[in-house]
Amino acid sequence: MPARPAASRRTVLRGAALTPVAGLGLTACGRTEEGPARPTGPVELGPENEVAEEGAKLYRDHNVVVSRSADGTLRAYDSVCTHAGCPINKLEGTKLICPCHGSEFDATTGKVLREPAVAPLKALTVEVRNGTMVAEPQA
Ligand code: FES
Repeated sequence: MPARPAASRRTVLRGAALTPVAGLGLTACGRTEEGPARPTGPVELGPENEVAEEGAKLYRDHNVVVSRSADGTLRAYDSVCTHAGCPINKLEGTKLICPCHGSEFDATTGKVLREPAVAPLKALTVEVRNGTMVAEPQA
């Protein structure tokens, strides 16, 4: 029985070009057409001690940033950029940096530090339940 001829490189590439990437709907920013996932209800982030005093931590899976003030107060913000909706993926100290057009935000206040974004990040409520931080949209 003759062996089946291997697909040529051209055949493989042609096939790939014709194959739609169904269901992903990615945009240039790497977001889905529906936009990045953001909290619509309570989300468990992690142990309370993950956020140092006067520090911040970015929970990219949930698009939430949490900061802690010197007096121990926790604050949380939706970390989806208010400019064009890219999920922010970089935190330097307490400064969030958007990968799409370079907007910067203060993770302790949600305020814009650098345009093109002009609107602050959306504040979330955050509380500690059994040692775990839980963030959720404000009512
Ligand atoms: Fe963040 Fe444009 S989407 S700077």
